[in-house]
Amino acid sequence: MTVSTNKPAPSRSLTTQSSKTNVKVPEEQVSVPLPNRREFLFYIWGASLTLFAAASGGFLYWFLKPRFSEGEFGGVFREPPTSVPESGNAPFNNPTGKYWLSNSQEGVVALYKVCTHLGCLYAWVPNNDRFECPCHGSMFELWGEFIQGPAPRSLDRFAMTITTTSGAELVTNEAGDPIPVTREEIAEIMIDTGNRIKRDGRV
Ligand code: FES
Repeated sequence: MTVSTNKPAPSRSLTTQSSKTNVKVPEEQVSVPLPNRREFLFYIWGASLTLFAAASGGFLYWFLKPRFSEGEFGGVFREPPTSVPESGNAPFNNPTGKYWLSNSQEGVVALYKVCTHLGCLYAWVPNNDRFECPCHGSMFELWGEFIQGPAPRSLDRFAMTITTTSGAELVTNEAGDPIPVTREEIAEIMIDTGNRIKRDGRV
């Protein structure tokens, strides 16, 4: 006697059975082709080029970026006209910018606060109407010119740009001479503490 069965053909996929789940294991693994030597070199070249471009961009940004921020010593300071003293009066002191802002018959000038002898901080002495250095006694006029003492030259100055109320821009010359302008004419002063001008001797 022949017995026929209608059992389905066994599946080609493998099954494992745990107590709760069935997990199908793929019959064939997908194989990822490895790059050949030429492709490999191409990828390396591309990665090197990307790295080089990133490094160049970073260097360019670092090179172009200003070294000092505004309002930080080494950078630019902006002073309103109210910071400028009346002509002949005691100079305006900016400790952060390390300068004195003087206004005299010579004009307006920003003086670096460090003595040109051995680097002490000199001070304004109102009773004597001049700058005096406490270390070795060098003395300087209100506009920074040498008077007497061991200092080898007059006080160093910072380059300035003065914008007037009429919109003109007056710029410090190469010698660092005071800018002849009245207080009333000044709209704003920009002092560049990154641009120090050394005087040529005791003048
Ligand atoms: S450091 Fe100023 S006089 Fe010597």
